[in-house]
Amino acid sequence: MAEILAGKGKSKYKIHITGKSLPKSEINRQIGLNNKVLIVTDSGIPKTYIKELRKVIKNRSVNVITLSQGEKSKSFSSYQKILNKLLDLKFDRSDKLIALGGGVVGDITGFCAATYLRGIEYIQIPTSLLAQVDSSVGGKTAINAKQGKNLIGSFYNPKFVLISTHFLKTLPENEYKSGLGEVIKYGFIGNKKLKKIIETNAKKIIIRDEKILKLIIEESIKTKSNIVTKDEKETGIRAILNFGHTFGHAIEAYNGFKNITHGAAITLGMVIASKISYFEGHIKDYQLDNVINTISSLGLNTDHKKYKYSHLKKYITSDKKVADGKINLVLIDKKFNAFKTSKFNHKNIIKALS
Ligand SMILES: NC(=O)c1ccc[n+]([C@@H]2O[C@H](COP(=O)([O-])OP(=O)(O)OC[C@H]3O[C@@H](n4cnc5c(N)ncnc54)[C@H](O)[C@@H]3O)[C@@H](O)[C@H]2O)c1
Ligand SMILES: [Zn+2]
Repeated sequence: MAEILAGKGKSKYKIHITGKSLPKSEINRQIGLNNKVLIVTDSGIPKTYIKELRKVIKNRSVNVITLSQGEKSKSFSSYQKILNKLLDLKFDRSDKLIALGGGVVGDITGFCAATYLRGIEYIQIPTSLLAQVDSSVGGKTAINAKQGKNLIGSFYNPKFVLISTHFLKTLPENEYKSGLGEVIKYGFIGNKKLKKIIETNAKKIIIRDEKILKLIIEESIKTKSNIVTKDEKETGIRAILNFGHTFGHAIEAYNGFKNITHGAAITLGMVIASKISYFEGHIKDYQLDNVINTISSLGLNTDHKKYKYSHLKKYITSDKKVADGKINLVLIDKKFNAFKTSKFNHKNIIKALS
């Protein structure tokens, strides 16, 4: 069991990482015995996990709402459905929401918690690797609009995050690999210990060895919580978490957000950003090889040649990270630290994508 503290001041919260079943006394302490509980989950989450959680919670009033699985549930209509349920159940400010699922469930539950009665507490129990190492930490909550993803939301920290690696046993392979994309990212943007662990334990990571999973999740979260605690509202250093994301988002958008997972897209984005780092003289050729070899050692694709500059151009220039008409890129340096810059030769983007 490991514990990490994230957030500052009043919005400080504990992240608990375990390989075993759910820690009963901690969950009940976080909920408070007299409070009502609504568990939000989705249809892809094995029913046994819901049963297991219900068994652990001692409170008399525990309800469950199950959204259909997939990104389309991060919608106005699911938001309304959850809020109506809270109103019908007469939730007050001391009652708790629990997100049991991946990033979709976590994001919408957080947004409901942020806005119901101007804010009630919520607990994140992430079940996908991506949610465990990324979306459950940092307090970004959101739903999608037809105009774009995550356009409606708020920064609102959870009360508690409970991560159990035992959920990962049932996670489909492509979703597992998607989460690994973000794990690798933390290794490339500054966590040297994590980078080394990945380089020396690829086989164990692939077979989801429990011990190694706990270690890479812990290191990933340390990096994320460190950065987001310094920059809660994304005005500075948080930008380095977007390593690989300018090109990754462009690849996702070019695919119409179908047929490629987020992690697979940002992995290709990291290869492209590393090539630009190399062309710009920030890293050596063997370091570029190291990026590509590390990614492929975990069974992730590094070949981005089907995405040409002409395909991605319009998405790169419309990315959120374009400020004052200048494209900002997150690149890496020789010491494997990431940095944001708008100073680069645009031709190197074209070169990296040719
Ligand atoms: N808030 C943030 O900071 C942040 C960061 C990154 C991503 N996100 C958001 O997270 C979402 C993506 O999250 P995701 O990749 O977890 O996708 P997801 O929530 O759609 O989960 C992926 C799929 O795996 C299934 N699943 C989850 N856990 C499982 C388990 N243990 N066993 C079997 N199946 C399981 C789900 O039912 C779903 O079908 C996106 O909406 C993205 O915008 C948010
Ligand atoms: Zn990401």
